[in-house]
Amino acid sequence: MSHIYIRGGHPLHGDVEISGMKNAALAIIPAALLADDVVVLENVPHIADITNMIQILQDLKVRITYLDEHTIRIDSRGLQNQALASEAVHKMRASYYLIGALLGRYGKAAVGYPGGCNFVQRPIDLHLKGFEALGAKVEVGDLIYAETDHLHGANIFLDIVSVGATINIMLAAVLADGETVINNAAKEPHVVDTANFLNSMGGRVSGAGTDRIVIRGVKSLHGANYQIIPDQIEAGTYMTAAVITKGDVTVRNIIPKHMSAITAKLVDLGATIQEFDDAIRVSVHGPLSELMIKTAPYPGFPTDMQPVFVAMLSLVPGSSIVTENVWDNRFSYVNQLVKMGADIHLDGRIAVIKGVEKLTGCEIEATDLRAGAAMVLAGLAADGVTAVDNVKYIFRGYESMIEKLRVLGADIWYDGDEQNQPVVVEGKIG
Ligand code: UD1
Repeated sequence: MSHIYIRGGHPLHGDVEISGMKNAALAIIPAALLADDVVVLENVPHIADITNMIQILQDLKVRITYLDEHTIRIDSRGLQNQALASEAVHKMRASYYLIGALLGRYGKAAVGYPGGCNFVQRPIDLHLKGFEALGAKVEVGDLIYAETDHLHGANIFLDIVSVGATINIMLAAVLADGETVINNAAKEPHVVDTANFLNSMGGRVSGAGTDRIVIRGVKSLHGANYQIIPDQIEAGTYMTAAVITKGDVTVRNIIPKHMSAITAKLVDLGATIQEFDDAIRVSVHGPLSELMIKTAPYPGFPTDMQPVFVAMLSLVPGSSIVTENVWDNRFSYVNQLVKMGADIHLDGRIAVIKGVEKLTGCEIEATDLRAGAAMVLAGLAADGVTAVDNVKYIFRGYESMIEKLRVLGADIWYDGDEQNQPVVVEGKIG
């Protein structure tokens, strides 16, 4: 079994370039299927989830070419809409976007149940209710089937703020007949990015970034060139890595506004933050103090940053309290930190973290993607060597994490060969 090994105790210093946003790319690549034309996407992160999504598209006979390491050309003119039930579909939560995209373009989709990180039960009832409101008949059996001969606009209220449901309904509605309104919509940067992408293809989506999105259906979408936004969570992870190692790191190629909830908490903690147009510098000069954090939909504190913050807070003096409000059970990784010496008490959705003097390296497990990043951060600050097991999760969402950390001065290595596996497309290696 392959591991990431980290010999802790090296403060991180220097600059790190942030890749394109995983969760935006995973929505925008399926959204490209809505145009019967060629789409070129730039700033696509080179991570296993994208390789997986590309493999699914290839099963639909979509032609994908890498123009350079981060630019893909998607030609869906020969798309053959068929049932999608491969292992690749089950590996990833974001395969649910294929339902919205195929339903929107063909009025018909058959897609296996999406998988993904295993930290909680992850229902998609709001997506399916949204498709039904747009006129589709939805059946859940061995696959999820959605079909209609007439997609029409609808007034939809989401009972829970859901990023996936908001985006999926936008995908299904953009070519529908008439106007769709999504009330209580998610406001995450990738919701806005997907709406902007749809508009760059001729869509008429307005209000993205607010809780009311209006989609005026159009007859067809055309090809486009589009650049995906930088990854808010990857940036936040390196900012947190700067603090946990008491270093000085500048995250580059980011949108500082997307980082507001994270930078505000780092300021409260006592870190020094300098904001630039497209970069943020994080350094630690004085003592750090306990924090209170409650995760919430954007613009609140992102749930995906919760595990790396908990790892960091395990070394901050005082008692910090972290409340997880988005997912039911997202603390399953905590016992790994406790193995390293952290003092964390769990009570349902609340974690009370009493800062300890030190963490000690040992063998720990990445239980999901963001928990995996938290384990790496803990290892960066721990005494001795930490061996992180089950690292396939980390490679799903962090491009070249080991190399990026090494450039910042981390003593980190990997004994396997799974990282950022190349994708072979049209005879080119991406
Ligand atoms: C996306 C992100 C994920 C992040 C999450 C919240 C992707 C691929 N993943 O997941 O990393 O943690 O946003 O920021 O973009 N819910 C329902 N029914 C539904 C849909 C959601 O009850 O049909 C609930 C979920 O159980 C959860 C909450 O709504 O409690 C938010 O989930 P949602 O925003 O939909 O998460 P995802 O879009 O799947």
